[in-house]
Amino acid sequence: MNWRVWYVFFLLNGVNCIDCPQLYVPIDSENVCIYMSSRAVALSEMEAYCESEANGGKPFNRRFSDEGIRELGKNLKMSVESLFPPEVYIGITREKDSMNQPTKNFVFANGQGKVHEDDYPLWTREPSVQDCGSVTYRKDFKVNPFTCTDSAVFLCEKNEFPCEYNTLPFVEYHQKCLSIFPRKDNYMTAESICGQMGAHLFPYKSYDDSDSVGAAIYSSITFDGGIYAGLRKNELGQWKYESGEEETKRWDPEDELHQDCGVYGFLKNLSIGMFTMSCDDKLRLLCEFKKEGLQERNIHIKSNWILRK
Ligand SMILES: *[C@@H]1O[C@H](CO)[C@@H](O)[C@H](O)[C@H]1NC(C)=O
Repeated sequence: MNWRVWYVFFLLNGVNCIDCPQLYVPIDSENVCIYMSSRAVALSEMEAYCESEANGGKPFNRRFSDEGIRELGKNLKMSVESLFPPEVYIGITREKDSMNQPTKNFVFANGQGKVHEDDYPLWTREPSVQDCGSVTYRKDFKVNPFTCTDSAVFLCEKNEFPCEYNTLPFVEYHQKCLSIFPRKDNYMTAESICGQMGAHLFPYKSYDDSDSVGAAIYSSITFDGGIYAGLRKNELGQWKYESGEEETKRWDPEDELHQDCGVYGFLKNLSIGMFTMSCDDKLRLLCEFKKEGLQERNIHIKSNWILRK
């Protein structure tokens, strides 16, 4: 094996060997440990948050490499899939006739019409006795026939733009104003809780809306729509990271860049892209932890080996 191969071997292993403090995950391609804040934080309190609540870290405010952002996305998805209940109620329920007998039709919430069960394009399988439906990320955001008395978290929609933060942060996910209520309930209770917030269960009618549903499922419970990227718009209208780099690509094509803070969120294809949110909002953020002396040690190992060679 020639020394170049060994060099690469050490490089890869050195980078993979980062051991991160508790709560942090390694982003190998950036050679850092990253922690996503467990709550939304005012941007003036970022430093203090990372220092105290994130084990002595500091805010991560640089531009990710392409590989780094892919790793971040993979980690965020994995954390959702490990934490998040796979079933999410949407606003569809079997119609009853005047004798209160079940029919073959399903009614959409918010008076959005109905569909014959054979014509609903989103089923993962034919419903039999089930009278409700729940969407699942395990099946590409299709809808499982679901028993209405079973408990699941649920997807509420508001018809209001811009979406508002009140009891729950409603966020615009690809033209829909959505939020997932982070508690499990049966269908009737879910419907009434959405109602109390001036919302309704999301009437998920066609696969066209799966981008919105997917982004809401992957973002809503874990980070409320956006994670502060250390990126702001300056007086000249340029988007600059706190480290000074400029962001010119990576924006969601439909974001009009009217607001002043850049955040990470899921694009339609569920890779990570950039969106804008207001810097006055509290936002999730990323803290980094750089193990003292890690890089020096790696360089030392490499040069040692090359010298011996
Ligand atoms: C996802 O979409 C964005 C823009 O809409 C594009 O730049 C990116 O390459 C896409 N990623 C994948 C993995 O297809």
